[in-house]
Amino acid sequence: MNSWGIIGIGRIGLSMARNMSSKGITVSLYDKAYEKKTNLIFEEKELYSELNKASFFIDISSFIKSIEKPRKLLILVPAGEPTDHVINNLLDILDEDDIIIDAGNTNPVVSFNNKLKIQKNKMLYLGIGVSGGTEGVLRGPSIMIGGHEAAFNKVKDDLSIITSKTIKNTSSFDFFGDTNQGHFVKMVHNGIEYVEMQLIASIYELLINSNNYKNQEIADIFDEWNSTELKSYLLEISIKQILQKIDDKYLIKKIDDEAGDNGTGRWMLNYGIELGSPLSMLSSAMDTRFISRFKTLRKEISEMTNQRSKRYTIDINSLKKAYQFCRHINFIQAFCLINASNKKYGWNISISKALNVWSNGSIIKSSQINDLYFNYSVENILSDKKIIKDLNEYKPDIINVILISLKNDISIPCFGEALNYFNSISSNSLSTKMIQAQRNFFGSHDIKIN
Ligand code: 6PG
Repeated sequence: MNSWGIIGIGRIGLSMARNMSSKGITVSLYDKAYEKKTNLIFEEKELYSELNKASFFIDISSFIKSIEKPRKLLILVPAGEPTDHVINNLLDILDEDDIIIDAGNTNPVVSFNNKLKIQKNKMLYLGIGVSGGTEGVLRGPSIMIGGHEAAFNKVKDDLSIITSKTIKNTSSFDFFGDTNQGHFVKMVHNGIEYVEMQLIASIYELLINSNNYKNQEIADIFDEWNSTELKSYLLEISIKQILQKIDDKYLIKKIDDEAGDNGTGRWMLNYGIELGSPLSMLSSAMDTRFISRFKTLRKEISEMTNQRSKRYTIDINSLKKAYQFCRHINFIQAFCLINASNKKYGWNISISKALNVWSNGSIIKSSQINDLYFNYSVENILSDKKIIKDLNEYKPDIINVILISLKNDISIPCFGEALNYFNSISSNSLSTKMIQAQRNFFGSHDIKIN
């Protein structure tokens, strides 16, 4: 008998199986594709010697029988319909107290309902967000957990073997609450990830369009930043991608600019709207991905628009501070969403606990996470004098950078939103005075007169 079962041996499932197997955890593996192509099993065993200790199954019922009770079933098929399908099948074949673990990027709203459904069938549920991509999951992912605490207690020893070590020297996983909080924290992680990715992309665009920097020089600037407090996994991989070549040409020049998304950013925006919690940077990052998909239209409009030839200078130190400004606002907006959710849903998600889990193994791991964790009051970030002082200090630089972008027709998504947010949140008198007056005129709304 094996101690875990994994359903879905795609890229992430395979990394997870290899990670567990190499640490001596016995696993049974099942993938729908094995039913039709048993040779896949031999290929995987041949490629990864650690999988020789794993048991592969071509039918689900012998797979289930091979796992010790109460069974721990890790689902790693794509989120949405495929995951729902697997969960519904498992409800018919599992026994009481078996643990169903959804490890995909599942919408927290769906995750909440899944918990109720599984509980009704007297089984236990965990909704876990797994970050790290193929490499991270293999070496030690960051894992955000929600669901039945009794189930968490049954899996935590094994999770401590397969995860990384955090800034607090704990294992990079934690329990965030009794329903969908694990998937919620992963969704917030992804929202931060989207904005971080867009900021780096915007900076690259501003530098390359200045006609003053070539790819190698931009990589050198990023490399220098990466040796400072700006160090991050995303900056590191961006340097690699800037220098990556295909047929002697830079990949970044040849790659199609239409960007996809798996939905996590959209769900987070929905939460922001529902809770009245501003996520303007994420919204801008998402809009940029959406606009990128209007490929034909963009081409047509670009031909009707005056494309000026460009050459401008950028103060790299100023750019660095503008980037720091934006990164601060990104975390502020994400933390405020967590606080708003805690208040509305009666949750108790600890932001410092999330930072600790994200500090290693995750896609957003960075020196900034460590800095926020140790040097700022993250649970109540907008009351932290240090962060407001930083933002005031960096503000002239972000204004400079935005001005350059405006004067040269370069779109640098997320920068303007960061500055606008700070200008609003730090203002004691907003344009909404006029909104209230207008609302009062045509709708006889209640207004307050000070
Ligand atoms: C991670 C990532 C991962 C996510 C990809 C793709 O933490 O490992 O967040 O879970 O699925 O980054 O996301 P998009 O396809 O939406 O860019």
